[in-house]
Amino acid sequence: MDIKLIQFQSHGDERGALVSLEESKNIPFEIKRVYYMFNTIQDVRRGFHAHQKLKQLAIVVKGSCRFMLDDGKEKIEVPLDNPSQGLFIDSLVWREIFDFSDDCVLVVLADEIYDETDYIRNYDEFIKLVNNDS
Ligand code: TYD
Repeated sequence: MDIKLIQFQSHGDERGALVSLEESKNIPFEIKRVYYMFNTIQDVRRGFHAHQKLKQLAIVVKGSCRFMLDDGKEKIEVPLDNPSQGLFIDSLVWREIFDFSDDCVLVVLADEIYDETDYIRNYDEFIKLVNNDS
């Protein structure tokens, strides 16, 4: 599986750093929704789903966490701890998120508004779908 980690340009100077996110420029889709997670708990694993259509991009703007991405053939772990990097997560990729640092703030950009019917929350169903044997 290709991990698509996007490196954003950081406009740093003596006052600090600044990263700008622009749809269809450094973000490879139209941004319809932004959500963020904070006050996460180190030992709690979350996610446990894939999406039929939704594309997302995850940025840890503070702290760190790890993603496990699974396309049905391969599982990859990706540590995120750099606010200048974004992890692109395509549709039909199972994700789990874990090892949250206490100060972790995880921002996610999405190409659609929230739609529960787009979620695949059952792993066996996900595997059947990606292997085309449903
Ligand atoms: P959930 O999907 O359980 O989070 P995760 O998969 O990362 O563990 O989402 C938690 C709750 O927030 C759930 O009740 C659905 C709701 N929610 C929204 O209302 N809008 C959103 O954009 C998202 C991502 C979740």
